[in-house]
Amino acid sequence: MPKENKDNLMEKIVSLCKRRGFVFPGSEIYGGLAGTWDWGHYGLALKNNIKQAWWKKFVDSRRDMYGLDAAILMNAKVWEASGHVAGFSDPMEDGRQFNVMFQTKIGAGEEAAVSYLRPETAQGMFVNFKNTVDAFHPKLPFGMAQIGKAFRNEIAPRDFIFRQREFEQMEIEYFIRAADWEKYFEYWKNEMLSWMEEIGLDMGKVHELEVSGEDRAHYSSRTIDFEFDYPFGRKELFGLAYRTDFDLKNHKLDYIDEEQTEKIVPHVIEPTFGVDRAFLALMLSAYMEDEKDGEVRSYLKFKPSIAPVICAVSPLLKNKPELVEYANTKVYALLKGEFGRVAWDDNGNIGKRYRRQDEIGTPFCIVVDFDTLNDDTVTVRDRDTGAQERVKTSDLVAYIKEKI
Ligand code: GAP
Repeated sequence: MPKENKDNLMEKIVSLCKRRGFVFPGSEIYGGLAGTWDWGHYGLALKNNIKQAWWKKFVDSRRDMYGLDAAILMNAKVWEASGHVAGFSDPMEDGRQFNVMFQTKIGAGEEAAVSYLRPETAQGMFVNFKNTVDAFHPKLPFGMAQIGKAFRNEIAPRDFIFRQREFEQMEIEYFIRAADWEKYFEYWKNEMLSWMEEIGLDMGKVHELEVSGEDRAHYSSRTIDFEFDYPFGRKELFGLAYRTDFDLKNHKLDYIDEEQTEKIVPHVIEPTFGVDRAFLALMLSAYMEDEKDGEVRSYLKFKPSIAPVICAVSPLLKNKPELVEYANTKVYALLKGEFGRVAWDDNGNIGKRYRRQDEIGTPFCIVVDFDTLNDDTVTVRDRDTGAQERVKTSDLVAYIKEKI
């Protein structure tokens, strides 16, 4: 029976991530840099799949959402108007406030201007509100969406990729009429929950927390945190905030409602998602252990649509040229061309190859054996059940497509 083995779960995930090329400690050969992590081939694939699933649901399949990719460096006036220069601080041990924005200088010498690495992607959308309205003429309600890096000089980065100094956000600013805020707050709460379920998060570990007035960010008049049961405790995963007209008003931006011919400042509902926390929660949700052939096996039970590798292709024996030739030219080339995220694995015996693919969450392992040469069928082995099926080579693409 698959089960979750909670003992040392974080250690297991961190070690798996390094060993199997998901996530490496930043600047490791120079002793590291606290709060930074580097993404290896499989981690990057999983992260890209998370971002693509988000973009598909919240941008591509909607009619009222406009994408943006704003610069990370912005005029310092943005952060003065947004309230971050005055208020984006955390208390230090001695109680003094420490502004967590990374300051930098733009230009040379005396002329150099102070600026900041953005601590949230949100402001890029607010400052491009007018550009977006002028370019696309959207009617209220409509939204802007952006995925990108954000930086915070966290006083105590910790818990692997949970609290970093450089991380990635996926954010939506949804512009509405003030009177509708409660309706859209509820609507976005449900949209966020349904996306979490779609990517395969363990929903039993997701909880809603109504954030109290004193704990809310300076711009919010209602916030819900979606928390997740990590091995190190129940902590924030994503957030949903009612930012009122705080940002647009401070940037002196407004909107002309053509129907009612009035000038208004739209209000904002902001669903915000941390890519790295989504990644961590997904790894923790997918990690399973069971017993196979008297040995403990660990596997990542990812949905095929989100798995870093969709399928792995193997010749039964790597010293039989006819098997290698068939596996390479008739199976690997076909699937690689179709799905991209396809691995070639001919190392060690078949059992070892299965374990290796299980560990990185590959849903299907395809083996070319001597029967293949006679009947053009291959073995497809299922990650979760270990069950094997013979499938015609010419049906493989359709077989996998049906399961994605
Ligand atoms: N624009 C709103 C905003 O930035 P936030 O709650 O401060 O709100 C949004 O951040 C999300 O970004 C969080 O829910 C979390 O997923 C992620 N996040 C924030 N700080 C982070 C950090 N230091 N490391 C990793 N992810 C972080």
